[in-house]
Amino acid sequence: MSQDNFPIRKVDHIRHYVGNARQAAFYYQHVFGFSITGYHGLETGLKHEVDYLLEQNDVKLLFTAALRPGHPMSEKIAQHGDFVQDIAFEVDDVDWAFHESVRRGAVPAHEPYTLSDENGEVRIASIHIYGDTLHTFINRDKFSGHFLPHFERRNEPGDSIGIVEVDHCVGNVELGQMNYWVDWYEQVLGFKNVITFDDKDISTEFTALMSKVMANGNGRVKFPINEPAEGKKKSQIDEYLEFFGGAGVQHVALRTDDIVYTVSRLRARGMQFLSVPQAYYDALPARVGTIEENIDELAQLGILVDRDDEGYLLQIFTKPVTDRPTLFYEIIHRKGATSFGKGNFKALFEAIEREQAVRGTL
Ligand code: FE2
Repeated sequence: MSQDNFPIRKVDHIRHYVGNARQAAFYYQHVFGFSITGYHGLETGLKHEVDYLLEQNDVKLLFTAALRPGHPMSEKIAQHGDFVQDIAFEVDDVDWAFHESVRRGAVPAHEPYTLSDENGEVRIASIHIYGDTLHTFINRDKFSGHFLPHFERRNEPGDSIGIVEVDHCVGNVELGQMNYWVDWYEQVLGFKNVITFDDKDISTEFTALMSKVMANGNGRVKFPINEPAEGKKKSQIDEYLEFFGGAGVQHVALRTDDIVYTVSRLRARGMQFLSVPQAYYDALPARVGTIEENIDELAQLGILVDRDDEGYLLQIFTKPVTDRPTLFYEIIHRKGATSFGKGNFKALFEAIEREQAVRGTL
C-alpha cells in the first residue's frame, strides 16, 4: 500500500488575478452560474485590492484585482493578462505543510500567518510552483465565519448549471520542463504520476505535445502537466507559452453530473466551445460502444465521449475565456472512467489547430 506522505484534503479555491474583478465576477455568475457569496474590498477594510468570492457546490473561485496604481499585482496582469494565480489546498496543518514542502525543495512565497476576526482564525501560507503560480495552504478548522476573516457575506445567487467540483487543473510548462515539475510534485507534495501521454498519443499531422498526470495521496487532486513537443507547426502549448509569457495554468476542468444540462445552459448563455466534425459522431458508436446518452444530442451540443477500462466519460472544451489564447475550461462528466479522454485528443487538437490557424499562430 502506498501511503500519503503529504496530506492534502482537497482544492480549496482557485484565485484569479484579473484587471476588473467586478466584471469577472459578473461573467462567472451569469455565464457559469456561480453565486457571488463573498466580498472583501474598500468597504470592508481592504485598502489596495479587492476580492470577489464565487461558489457553485464545491467549487470556489476568487477574483482579485488591484485598486491603486503601482500595485505589484498589476505588473503580473500586464505580463500575463487575467490568469490563475493560485490553486489553494485545504490541509490539516498549514505550518507543517509549508515547512515540510520548503524542506523538500519548494520556494517559499508567504510564511505561515494568521487572519482573525470575531469568528475565529484561519492559518495560511504559500509556496511557488511554475511561472507566477502559487499553491496556498489553508486551514479554517478554528473559524466559524464565511471563507476568510473580514470577508463580507454576499447573497447574489447565480442560476447554477450543475458544476459540482474541480476535477483537475492543467499546467503548461516550457519545453524540457515537464519532468522537472513531475519530479517536483513527487518529491515536494508526495504526488504520483498516474498517467503518461507521449507525443505519439497526443499528436496530429502538424503538432504534438506531451503530458503527465500527477495525483495527490488521496487521489482528489489531479494535475496534468503539459509541455510542447516537436512538430511541423507550432503547438497549442507553444502558442500558450508565447502569449502567456511563460508557464501557467492552461485549463480548469469542472465536473458535472449532467453534462447535457450543463452544456445546454452554457450554450444558451453564449459560451463558445471547440467543435468537432460530424465524422467524429459517425465513428462514435463503434469506438465507445453503448452509452446512455443520445448521440444526436451530444453531436448537437458538441460533447465528446471516451471510454477506459472502468467506464466512460463525457467532456467538452470552451474556447479561451481570456483575450489571449491562454485560459479555457473543460466540462467533464465521469461515468466510471477515471482517465482524461485520450481517445478524443486527436479530434480535439485538430479543432484547436483550426482555431490557431484563424489566429495566425499555427
Ligand atoms: Fe482536461
